[in-house]
Amino acid sequence: MKIRPVTLVLCLLLVAGAIAIALIAPDTMAAKQRLAVELSATPTPTADVRSMLQVTPDPNNTPTPTPLLLKLGAKNDEVRRLQQRLQELGYYHGEVDGQFGPGTRDAVVLFQAQHGLDADGIAGDTTRTRLYSSSAQPCQPTATPTPTAAALLKKGDRGEDVRRMQEALKALGYYNGAIDGDFGGGTEEAVRLFQRQNGLDVDGIAAKMTFSALYSENARQITLTPTPDPDSLPILVSRAHPIGENDWPRDLVKLANVVPSTVAKIKGSDIQGDRTAVNALVEMLAAANAQGVTNWQISAGYRSYQYQQQLFDRQVQEYRNQGFSQANAVSATRQTVADPGTSEHHTGLAFDVTSPGSVFKGTPEQVWLHRHCWEYGFIIRYQEDKEAITGYLAECWHIRYVGLPHSLDMRDRNLCLEEYLGDV
Ligand code: DAL
Ligand code: ZN
Repeated sequence: MKIRPVTLVLCLLLVAGAIAIALIAPDTMAAKQRLAVELSATPTPTADVRSMLQVTPDPNNTPTPTPLLLKLGAKNDEVRRLQQRLQELGYYHGEVDGQFGPGTRDAVVLFQAQHGLDADGIAGDTTRTRLYSSSAQPCQPTATPTPTAAALLKKGDRGEDVRRMQEALKALGYYNGAIDGDFGGGTEEAVRLFQRQNGLDVDGIAAKMTFSALYSENARQITLTPTPDPDSLPILVSRAHPIGENDWPRDLVKLANVVPSTVAKIKGSDIQGDRTAVNALVEMLAAANAQGVTNWQISAGYRSYQYQQQLFDRQVQEYRNQGFSQANAVSATRQTVADPGTSEHHTGLAFDVTSPGSVFKGTPEQVWLHRHCWEYGFIIRYQEDKEAITGYLAECWHIRYVGLPHSLDMRDRNLCLEEYLGDV
């Protein structure tokens, strides 16, 4: 068969075209994929033209509208993305943890207010579209505050300077009390919290460093302790599990500052406890008081290693004085006092709750505590029927905060902490 030259040229062109498509197409696909990965990994750059008012959504980075409104209580990856973006723009200073708490809400409100949006603290489609657009503006500092006139403010002080400081602490979320110009326990606790979260010396006394951080344009909003995750298990500190480096409490509060004297007596003004656990303690004892069970005393909370050592040595000495050999004195002590480094009191999550002036066992307070502590996230840690597992004689006064729903689960299944954690 004879092939005409025109046909031959056409055939050659077709073959060349097919080869080119086969070579280029995979490259185009791969490039598209790379772009998608990059877009999700890199945030939209902040616009540097501050006067630009028109919204120009970046089509590559505008979230797909979802019916979901991001608001207080939400917890998901969209919230994480929201926090990240708010942080980049300087509206949010908390943790990027995907939990929409009051700090995230305040940041959303601020962003909305500075962009002429309805400042309701809810990140709906309009807010999010604006936030991810190239016209989203970095946070503008609020009006420059007047620095305080006083050189130093401390508990017991009163006046206009205290009032101004309370206002500043409240605006940043560190203080919830009344703006009354009276530097009491609540104000001191707020100052301590502010100092702790801002890398200052934590002494509850407001002086130069504290004032300049508090009244600075970049003063930081409070970072709230994340809501305990029900999926995370309580920590176990026991003879077999000495306290780990990361289990020492980082957020201690003085009980005398946060437990109203009408709710419970604090034995010694220096008892401290983990903030979350103390909040639960106050809530529990306030409920007991409201039910007419009112004679409470907190006898112990957080203990340092050194203090536990002192308690241990003191008990050993007492047995020695009774004629015990050293070995017997130590083993008798170990039935009631933990070796330093192994006490739950090191965590700030354990408290000894008693009734002033009487043996706790059998009091209405003890009965109430054993019946209700579970509803507030506490467990009776050392019980008679679990002595063989816990290794301690029963202590009807020692409660341990494990959080909800763990405490209820342990009550309902009659499990001590070791059993609950499968550590038997
Ligand atoms: N009394 C408890 C066991 C402690 O010392 O931690
Ligand atoms: Zn105890």
